[in-house]
Amino acid sequence: MQQKNHQVVLSRPLNGVPVVEDFRVQEVPIPEPGPGELLVRHIYLSLDPYQRSAIAGRHMASRQPLGAGAMPMAETVGQVLRSRHPGYREGDYVRHFGGWQEYALSSGEQTEVLERDRAPLSAWLGVLGMPGLTAWASMVALADVQPGQVVLVSAALGPVGSMVGQIALQRGAHAVGIAGSDEKCAFVRELGFGACVNYRSADFLQTLAAALPEGADIYHDNVGGQMLADAFTVLKNYGTVILCGLMERYNDPARSKPLDLALPIVKRAVMKGLVVTDFEDRRAQFMDFVAPRIADGRIRYREDRAIGIAATGAHFARLMRGENLGKSVVVLADE
Ligand SMILES: NC(=O)c1ccc[n+]([C@@H]2O[C@H](COP(=O)([O-])OP(=O)(O)OC[C@H]3O[C@@H](n4cnc5c(N)ncnc54)[C@H](OP(=O)(O)O)[C@@H]3O)[C@@H](O)[C@H]2O)c1
Repeated sequence: MQQKNHQVVLSRPLNGVPVVEDFRVQEVPIPEPGPGELLVRHIYLSLDPYQRSAIAGRHMASRQPLGAGAMPMAETVGQVLRSRHPGYREGDYVRHFGGWQEYALSSGEQTEVLERDRAPLSAWLGVLGMPGLTAWASMVALADVQPGQVVLVSAALGPVGSMVGQIALQRGAHAVGIAGSDEKCAFVRELGFGACVNYRSADFLQTLAAALPEGADIYHDNVGGQMLADAFTVLKNYGTVILCGLMERYNDPARSKPLDLALPIVKRAVMKGLVVTDFEDRRAQFMDFVAPRIADGRIRYREDRAIGIAATGAHFARLMRGENLGKSVVVLADE
């Protein structure tokens, strides 16, 4: 075992879109588990957009902005190296909130032993993790998508968006994606979406309308701002909008424009906000739906990987610039 733990911390408070200079690596001793604790060696580290809000103190669960020297929190998947906790054995694979570092202690709180044979380890952070549960909650619990309906989703190649579309497809609906490049759209179509529209193309609204000749029954919104307003142009009357994310404003809320409420009124729309933690008690139901479909290839996913703890800051900046091609993950060690 290597002798030191490496963490990525802020070198200064974040301002706007993160850049690599906002982060630095520090070396600290590997901690020893006390009574009731376990030491986890991290293998995969999850980077997610909510971490930008959490760093800024604008997240539901984190109201204090992080200053210089603070380490962002993140879910990690890893292996138990030493355990002084009766519920965990050395060698167990676990998912917990380990943070941006190679090793972490856990008291057992929010620390789940993973069924290693059920899916690839990194998938427990994406399609089988919080983003997958978010998509399932949207399509199954909130929108209750029906066969034949048309689902439109933004940020369609990300772990939430790609799962929204694929769960809709699995329930007999049609899926249309919106994404930020032709390359992303090609991957989205490979996942089975009937169409994908690049919102950076000059004729975006016309192409979107052409991709949805009958309109969309459901729009799952990952972005907010102008994207949400644009989606109303193709939403059917009495359509449903799932409000899930605000990518457009995480880096800089001051630049965000509020929604014109005439849009949902004219479309007689139903709008539902989604908070994934509300669905924790339905994880088993979600797993039973998704895990077999990953195992037999009916549901597929892409990952956007970086290697090594030192790459974490740059990879997070890439995610927050919207350049990731799939679930953003940092690989910290061999499985
Ligand atoms: N409500 C909840 O409980 C909950 C839970 C999980 C996730 N979420 C939200 O769901 C959304 C998707 O999450 P994810 O993990 O699947 O992320 P993701 O799609 O992997 O990454 C975010 C994507 O947003 C798109 N984007 C659109 N406008 C952007 C902008 N102005 N700046 C940067 N990126 C922009 C980019 O894709 P394009 O280039 O294709 O536009 C980018 O790749 C996020 O808003 C997240 O916060 C909400």
